[in-house]
Amino acid sequence: MAISRAEARRVEVVDGGPILLEGPVEVALANGGTAFSDRHVVALCTCRRTRRPPWCDTSHRSHRQPPGPQAETPAPREQKREQEREER
Ligand code: FES
Repeated sequence: MAISRAEARRVEVVDGGPILLEGPVEVALANGGTAFSDRHVVALCTCRRTRRPPWCDTSHRSHRQPPGPQAETPAPREQKREQEREER
């Protein structure tokens, strides 16, 4: 059974941050356990600094490089998603 591109789940990699997945998701953990989230958008930690693995708790933000002359402004969509996560 072929799945069309329109039906495919979207995964978004945030530069320096989490991987965003369309939920709900069940994550198979390295220890054999599972973690489940029924949220519409789920943020998986990639920096390993979270206190709520496997979920991103925004701890990655406190370890970013200080702004410099080559720092980029986050894309509007990333800013909106980070604001939504803060409000949770
Ligand atoms: S990616 Fe956000 S806490 Fe790790």
